[in-house]
Amino acid sequence: MPLGDALACWSSPTPDGMKCAMNLTTDLTEILRIEHPILLAPMDVVATGELAAAVTDAGALGLIGGGYGQADWLDTQWRAAGNTRVGVGFITWSLALNPGLLDAALDHAPPAVMLSFGDEEPFAGKIKDAGAKLICQIQTVGQARRAADNGADIIVAQGTEGGGHGQRRATLTLVPEVVDAVGDIPVVAAGGVSDGRGLAAALMLGAAGVLMGTRFYATQEAGGRPEAKAEIVAADGDATIRGKLFDLLRDVGWPETYTGRVLRNDFARQWEGRDDELIQNLEGERERYKQAAMKHDFSVAPVIAGEGTGLIQDIPDAAVLVERVVTEAADLLIGAPEKYLRL
Ligand SMILES: Cc1cc2nc3c(=O)[nH]c(=O)nc-3n(C[C@H](O)[C@H](O)[C@H](O)COP(=O)(O)O)c2cc1C
Repeated sequence: MPLGDALACWSSPTPDGMKCAMNLTTDLTEILRIEHPILLAPMDVVATGELAAAVTDAGALGLIGGGYGQADWLDTQWRAAGNTRVGVGFITWSLALNPGLLDAALDHAPPAVMLSFGDEEPFAGKIKDAGAKLICQIQTVGQARRAADNGADIIVAQGTEGGGHGQRRATLTLVPEVVDAVGDIPVVAAGGVSDGRGLAAALMLGAAGVLMGTRFYATQEAGGRPEAKAEIVAADGDATIRGKLFDLLRDVGWPETYTGRVLRNDFARQWEGRDDELIQNLEGERERYKQAAMKHDFSVAPVIAGEGTGLIQDIPDAAVLVERVVTEAADLLIGAPEKYLRL
């Protein structure tokens, strides 16, 4: 449809509020052959096969969370996704300890494999030879250059606002700097994107789309406890902390340079800024954490979430969310010339 007709259609909804379908087309949608420039973050435990399939069915791309590499869990998620076209994401340093997981994943012929947190080089060739797009999530411009040299098809620039593990750069400056650094490779913005404002802003920074984690956590299909989703809805963006407290408790071997962002809970309030003292008390505190995790007691066990939690007020179906984010972004982009441009 010519642009003029599309805009007219968009700005005149039918009496029941239906709008003409509007797609945001970018290099990301072209490369991945999807309708909407949105990726589901491959969140450990949370990005289940069911959620990934729902996101793909909504026109974006779902990535199953390969996490710390539990093969049985992954098998179950592939089965849950059925024949829906979903990808998978791995924590790279953890995959290096169990590289067979990649072969098992490639047997499912995923359209894309995302690697985060570590050197993608040992896995890049195998992923691309299998016909999957290689998505690399990075936290610095140096890592983006390395990913480009290693053949990344798509680079996710993750700012420190994001939920879960990351580093120190903020999304607002990291994204355009990475866009400038990596030439024609599409860059996806991650970290703090929870609504259409974030998507529209990311496109203006030069990104070809967004990857959302925290926002998708608070959806019906997401794995994870209802209590955790309710905490994400209740929290504002001031309520998160980034640090190493919970990795000390869980003892999962994260490299020194990565910290994790979670909602501040009673445990965090008790130990914030006192990592050294916590290390002195690890034995007892690890037991306390283990018990709390078993009982889903989130005053001690962490709810992993980013600053975008402050923009989340509900727990919709993933399809409703995707549609909402795209519609909001399209509305903003269409309204922008009239709102801002003066001759
Ligand atoms: C609950 C949760 C778990 C996560 N687990 C992983 C993971 O296993 N692997 C990974 O690459 N990224 C993980 N992330 C980080 C995401 O890939 C992404 O960078 C982040 O969610 C983006 O920021 P946002 O949360 O503001 O959307 C996780 C994020 C959250 C919120």
